[in-house]
This record gives sequence, structure tokens and C-alpha cells, in this order.
Amino acid sequence: MGWSATDQPRYGLRTFNTPAHKGQTDDMADQYAQTGEDSKPTELPAIRWEEPPEGPVLVLLDQTRLPAEEVELVCTDASALVEAIRSLAVRGAPLLGIAGAYGVALAAARGFDVDEAAAVLAGARPTAVNLAVGVRRAEAAYRAELTKSGDQELAAGAALAAARGLHREDAAASAAMAERGLALLDELLPGGGHRILTHCNTGSLVSGGEGTAFAVALAAHRAGRLRRLWVDETRPLLQGARLTAYEAARSGMAYTLLTDNAAGSLFAAGEVDAVLIGADRIAADGSVANKVGSYPLAVLARYHHVPFIVVAPVTTVDLDTPDGASIEVEQRPGHEVTEIAAPQVPVAGGEAGGGIPVAPLGTQAYNPAFDVTPPELVTAIVTEEGVVSPVTAEALAELCARSREVTIS
Ligand code: MRU
Repeated sequence: MGWSATDQPRYGLRTFNTPAHKGQTDDMADQYAQTGEDSKPTELPAIRWEEPPEGPVLVLLDQTRLPAEEVELVCTDASALVEAIRSLAVRGAPLLGIAGAYGVALAAARGFDVDEAAAVLAGARPTAVNLAVGVRRAEAAYRAELTKSGDQELAAGAALAAARGLHREDAAASAAMAERGLALLDELLPGGGHRILTHCNTGSLVSGGEGTAFAVALAAHRAGRLRRLWVDETRPLLQGARLTAYEAARSGMAYTLLTDNAAGSLFAAGEVDAVLIGADRIAADGSVANKVGSYPLAVLARYHHVPFIVVAPVTTVDLDTPDGASIEVEQRPGHEVTEIAAPQVPVAGGEAGGGIPVAPLGTQAYNPAFDVTPPELVTAIVTEEGVVSPVTAEALAELCARSREVTIS
């Protein structure tokens, strides 16, 4: 493809050693991270822009390798980034938006066809609306500068500035969501000692800051009001076990991992005070698309009278998608279900699996990456601009209008 052709390597690896959860014991149901050298966030950011003498690159922490090792992927063009997005080396809605914006900046800085790169990046995964939003933002900045000055270099600089702006804004949004989310938790559950169940991974690995739902749990932990974080393992790609447990351990939180199908008995035992999840797209009617397995948790939460709280930046709200049925849910390869992959073996999204088979050869698998929770099951949506509860189309539209005013002024 013209826009991806280059005589330099497109994709590189840098490996770092990660001590694997030294503070954990596997003979206890309850796992506590110990303080010490391991209980700090990874030194490596999920994403960063670098400008070595050979030309600009986008460096990603390869999330398919965690928690076994910290390996960085170095992308030199948009097609390498598309591969990283599809394989979930870089993932999670807010980070996909940031990555998409940097991808456009990368294409521009290296002199590729920006429109073509933007189109392929925006379509790399269909459900998380942030991806297309981030791509469009950098592309618009590039176009505007090109129209104004006619200078390709200045236009590439404008795309990069837009990506950096989005990155910074996401960090700020993350902090605001954490504050608002904790205030809501304290209001709904006076007295603290929160036992929070979460699904998938929503921490600093998916954000310019500390994340969405995880950032709220982290704020509760820092305030001394988190009794336990229940971490759903999140089949089939184990974002909960591999990534959320990794982040919880490094933050020194009290957490316990459970298989997704153990959630029902946990609710029945009265062990869950609130569910906190992120979102990949929130439709205009308040329907929430998030990692598959979120909807069953919402049903369980309703039955057991437990608040079900969605935490997401305003960029995840898509007023152009009218309702849940209109959200495109990504279907992933069957081998992700029929095989178990070791974290060191990056098989997610690959053509051939390469994992350990757990089903007879030729077994067909149903593997949607997301499911959709209807608004009536969502207690509240927490954004950086405010909390929507009850979740209605009118309240969401008003929040987005307010957010646009803030952005424009
Ligand atoms: O398929 P993934 O790992 O990209 O899915 C991520 C999720 O479903 C997250 O919960 C969602 O993006 C919210 S992240 C803040």
C-alpha cells in the first residue's frame, strides 16, 4: 500500500524485564499487593511519541505481553499501528482515540497519504467510538493547517499538536472522572468500605491518565475507602486477570480475581456493593457498549439491587448512534475462544492461533468482543463533565451540549 511503503522497519520491539507479581500468594483466596519495589505503576507509559534521528515513531507498551514482560512496540507508520490495534497490543477506548490521533500525525510526519492512513486507522476496530474521534481530530487539524498555509510540515505539526492535546485532555478527564465517581460512590454507599466489582481493564493502560472505572476505584483506595476490588478475569483475552490485576497489584490495592462465571455467586453472597465499568461507545439513548460480559453483570446488579456505574469520558458518547441496536459490535476470531493463550505468546487477532487448544479441532466459536447494556440497567454514567442519573437521552444530550460549550469557549 502506498501510504505504508517505507524502506525502514515499520515495527520494532524493545524488551524490559517485569518482575511478575512478587507480592502475590496463590494459596489464599484474598490477594494483597505488598508495598515495596513492585507496588508502583509501570515506568513505561502505554503510549509515547519519540523523535529519534531516523524519524518520528510511536512507541506502544505491548499489552498482549503483560503481565509477563514489558515489551515496547515501535511503530513507524499507520499500518504497523493498525496491526497493533487489531492485535490489542494497544487497546481500550480512550487510548485507542489517542493512538489514532498519533497515527495520523505519524503518517503526516513521514509524508504518507494522510487521508488513506486516517481511513484505515479509523476502521481498525469498529466499536470504540474514541478511535474514529481521535483520528478525525488530528486529520481535521492537519487539513486546516494545510489549507491555511499550504505547508506540509506545518500541517504535520498541527496533527501532532492535536494528538498531544487529546492525550493531555484525556489525562485531565481521567482525574475529573475519578473525583466525580468517588463522590457518587460515597453518596450511594455512605460509610466507605466499598467492595467494587470491575470488568475488563480500565486503568492507566487505557488512558493518558489513570483511566476511567479503575481510576475511581484507585481514588477510593487512596482515600482509604476501598475494601476490595473484585476483578473479573474477562474471558477470552483475560484483560482483567492480565492487566487489571497487574495494575491493582502495582497500586497496592486489596483485590481478588474471579472467573467471570463466579460473579453470580459473589452477588448472591452479598459481597458486591457496586459495579464499575468503562465503555467503548454510549449511544444517544444511553445504551452502553463495553467488553463482553458487562451486560450479564448489569442484569445481576439489578436483581441484587447493586448500583451499576459506567465511567467514561464525553468522547465515548456518540449522539450519532441512536440506540444500542445501532452499535456495531466487533466479532473476533474463534481461536481466541477455542485456544488459551499464554500472555507471552501474542495470539490475539492473529490469523493462526498458536495457543493451547481447549476445544476439539474445528469447533466454531461465538466471540463478540463487546455487549450492549440498555440504559434502564445503568444506575449512572460518570463523565468528566458531570454525572448522568437516571440515564436518559435528554440528560445525555444536555451533557454533550454543555461539554461542547466548555471545549469551544
Ligand atoms: O477489547 P478491549 O480490551 O479494547 O476492550 C476494552 C474495554 O472494553 C474497556 O472496558 C473499555 O474500552 C473502556 S476502557 C476505559
